[in-house]
Amino acid sequence: MRSSDAHPQSLESLHGDIWDRLGQAAVDLAHPWRTPTLATAGPDHPDARVVVLREVDLHARALVCFSDSRTHKVGGLRIHPVATWCFYDPAQRIQLRARGETRVHVNNALTRQYWEKLPHSSRRLYATTPRPGERVLAPWEIPFGDHPAEQFAVLVTTVHELDWLQLKNEWHERARFRWDADSWEAHWACP
Ligand SMILES: Cc1cc2nc3c(=O)[nH]c(=O)nc-3n(C[C@H](O)[C@H](O)[C@H](O)COP(=O)(O)O)c2cc1C
Repeated sequence: MRSSDAHPQSLESLHGDIWDRLGQAAVDLAHPWRTPTLATAGPDHPDARVVVLREVDLHARALVCFSDSRTHKVGGLRIHPVATWCFYDPAQRIQLRARGETRVHVNNALTRQYWEKLPHSSRRLYATTPRPGERVLAPWEIPFGDHPAEQFAVLVTTVHELDWLQLKNEWHERARFRWDADSWEAHWACP
């Protein structure tokens, strides 16, 4: 034992704990991992922005968020279909980065399934006539069109790498998990 507050954890239980936290974050609006940063390679430069974690599927290793199909991130993902999600819990001083191939779904069975469950107030967000990022006269003068469902995108990342870092008083703990064909390979890493 290296100190009184040390509770050595196996990599296997840590891995289970990570997916439990992700699953909680997808259903708990107040969870600090509910609004991660999603980083992508844009057409010209790397970019990062906050998104809402909508769904987590441990068996498919999938992380899901919604977006407007006309956004910069979607344009970038169509060229470079990889993303890194960065989650941070400030109270527990835990950072998790999850990387993987990221597919953009538009106007298909999957998007329709999520669209049906979206409240009308959220559907409206996808109905703007100007594209996200386009210059407008003022926020209160943005016109709305009639085909929001066609502008609704579902982004699904299939995670192949998890990088966990927890800051602690006496030492920091970092662990890496890599999907290798059909199972997770895990090791501790120097922070
Ligand atoms: C709390 C919060 C949650 C957000 N959730 C999403 C989201 O789930 N999907 C999304 O596309 N944009 C979301 N945004 C807006 C993005 O951060 C970003 O401004 C927008 O998607 C345009 O990004 P892009 O130009 O890099 O594509 C959110 C912003 C905030 C502040």
